Amino acid sequence: MPTKEIPQPLLEQIRRCRSIMAFTGAGISAESGVPTFRDAQTGLWAQFSPLDLATPEAFKKHPQRVWEWYEWRRSLVNKVSPNAGHKALTKLLQLFPINTLVTQNVDGLHQASGTDTVLELHGNIHRTICSRDRTMHQTWEPEVKPPRCPDCGAHLRPDVVWFGESLPADTFDGAIRAAQNCELFLSIGTSTTVYPAAELPHTAKNTGALVIEINPTPTPFTAEADWAFAAPAGEFLPHLVERMEALARS
Ligand code: OAD
Repeated sequence: MPTKEIPQPLLEQIRRCRSIMAFTGAGISAESGVPTFRDAQTGLWAQFSPLDLATPEAFKKHPQRVWEWYEWRRSLVNKVSPNAGHKALTKLLQLFPINTLVTQNVDGLHQASGTDTVLELHGNIHRTICSRDRTMHQTWEPEVKPPRCPDCGAHLRPDVVWFGESLPADTFDGAIRAAQNCELFLSIGTSTTVYPAAELPHTAKNTGALVIEINPTPTPFTAEADWAFAAPAGEFLPHLVERMEALARS
């Protein structure tokens, strides 16, 4: 049911839920100035080819190009801050005794807005690992691109999931369990097109959660959601928190 208003009976239904899972994608960071992937004009995949930049094969063939692209993305993310959507989501999660935040984003903006525990399905662009044994490194020679692992000499790479790679198994298992067990599931700012992450809203729906989508444009999941709010996260989430807080006071 696409709509912008939050009906009172829905708010009351949300208030009765004891557990919440929020599942976020690039759209929640769009209002911070981080480009999404699939926007037709400004999306990263409208300007760059994922095959050239986000696969293990691309890194093997053109390590410098891939390293520099991630350096550029990291510098972009370092300049931005959490927006009203991130901040409201941090508050919203705290209104429920059990809460889980699962993100496909690699920008670290949920943590910057104060959510301590975030299940990061696609890694984190601020972390750098050895491409051979995945140990984490915090310092390297900046003029070498990509820098070499100080322990074994292999290339260092960003700790992100590339196409063709598996999601971190424990993190994904935790996300599946949370989706199976939550009473309320919010799908926020994701096109729900990249699997296996995009299974999560379906899992929550199939196991009986109240499922709400927040996205200005329809997605393949919209028709399955119990409610779909066609609004930017930075507008909708603060409004939802306000309404929930008013309900708690009444
Ligand atoms: P996409 O770029 O596929 O989708 C972003 C979604 O956010 C779209 O559906 C937009 O309509 C929506 N959106 C835009 N602005 C919004 C706003 N202000 N509020 C709410 N929604 C908004 O990004 P993801 O779904 O995150 O994976 O993409 C999933 C994965 O594909 C990414 O994690 C990345 C990418 O390839 C890897 O790199 C492995």
